[in-house]
Amino acid sequence: MYRLVFTQVLRRFDAEAVHHLTVRALALLSALPLVKRLLHRALAPHDPALRVSAFGVHFPGPLGLAAGFDKDAACAEGAAALGFGHVEVGTITAHGQPGNPRPRLFRLVRERAVVNRMGFNNAGAASAARRLRRVRGVPVVVGVNIGKTKVVPESEAAADYVAGAKELAPLADYLVVNVSSPNTPGLRDLQAVSLLRPLLTAVKEVADGTPRRTPLLVKIAPDLADEDVDAVADLALELGLDGIIATNTTIRHSGETGGLSGRPLKARSLEVLRRLRARVGDRLTLVSVGGVEDVDDVWERLLAGATLVQGYTGWVYGGPLWASHIHRQLSRRIRRHGLTSVTEVIGRTAPGSATAPGPGTRTGTRTGS
Ligand SMILES: Cc1cc2nc3c(=O)[nH]c(=O)nc-3n(C[C@H](O)[C@H](O)[C@H](O)COP(=O)(O)O)c2cc1C
Repeated sequence: MYRLVFTQVLRRFDAEAVHHLTVRALALLSALPLVKRLLHRALAPHDPALRVSAFGVHFPGPLGLAAGFDKDAACAEGAAALGFGHVEVGTITAHGQPGNPRPRLFRLVRERAVVNRMGFNNAGAASAARRLRRVRGVPVVVGVNIGKTKVVPESEAAADYVAGAKELAPLADYLVVNVSSPNTPGLRDLQAVSLLRPLLTAVKEVADGTPRRTPLLVKIAPDLADEDVDAVADLALELGLDGIIATNTTIRHSGETGGLSGRPLKARSLEVLRRLRARVGDRLTLVSVGGVEDVDDVWERLLAGATLVQGYTGWVYGGPLWASHIHRQLSRRIRRHGLTSVTEVIGRTAPGSATAPGPGTRTGTRTGS
């Protein structure tokens, strides 16, 4: 049904216009307590077998909405009511900014992919903080993803992130330092350990200083060389971060300028996850994002060591019930494998795992739900 609506209607409209319309619809939903609660009851993950805990936060299901959709923290409750186990809002910058000129969002329908060069268009940290204070009608885990304001020079990047963190860390279930978006000049250079160490140290001080100690994660690019992935992982361990989100969009493609997401990103995103898991084991929470389209992908990421999985482009093509549907299929699959909790799946095929993978749990098996 959604496929028909998408091919016959939605894809005929400008991608960003459809995006804003969807955000507005979900923001409206977020403001309607009864509808929101009814939808949440029908679509959110409620099966205890799907519950996961990570860095002291309880998630009703492992699949969440990746950063970039709800840039201004306008509709987290609406997204949660549609079945996401958490919603990562942002990227939010300390100061509001318009982003890059339009057009800046492109669908590649045949490839089940999207290219974007949005450039952190958002209303800024103070505005997002006001909205986040109002969230709490239905239970929703909200991660807050922060980035650098475009006009701030690299030499003042840490202070800019700290300003955003001060405003938003007290309101976040977890905080993410985004140093991996390709659309802010110089941002990804901050992934170099020499620049990343002082930046993360400064933001961690803010996150540690909130009343509940806000967990801190860093989000990395798929285009890092393998040894740089290892270096960031080692740094995250050294600084006592809570986790790593891998990956952001890739610039390794030949289309419109911008970051590519969706199906073409799947293989590299999984590769980075496996590398991270081999490096850090279960000492950090790994959040896998990039090219997740269905329950098979979620299962594969869990097996490879992700505690949480996120998607954005898969939802664009999968439709509004995408996350709810995947959580339901995941429930069934957990039971079919004779397991009682999704936590028993995490890291089963990772090197050094104590549990040998059972039948049908091999990496890459596509067995349906
Ligand atoms: C339109 C669009 C905007 C995005 N904006 C952000 C952003 O502001 N911050 C961020 O960390 N990631 C952003 N992302 C990246 C996603 O969070 C995710 O890492 C990436 O798209 C890979 O996941 P996917 O293949 O499921 O889309 C954006 C992605 C898309 C498609």
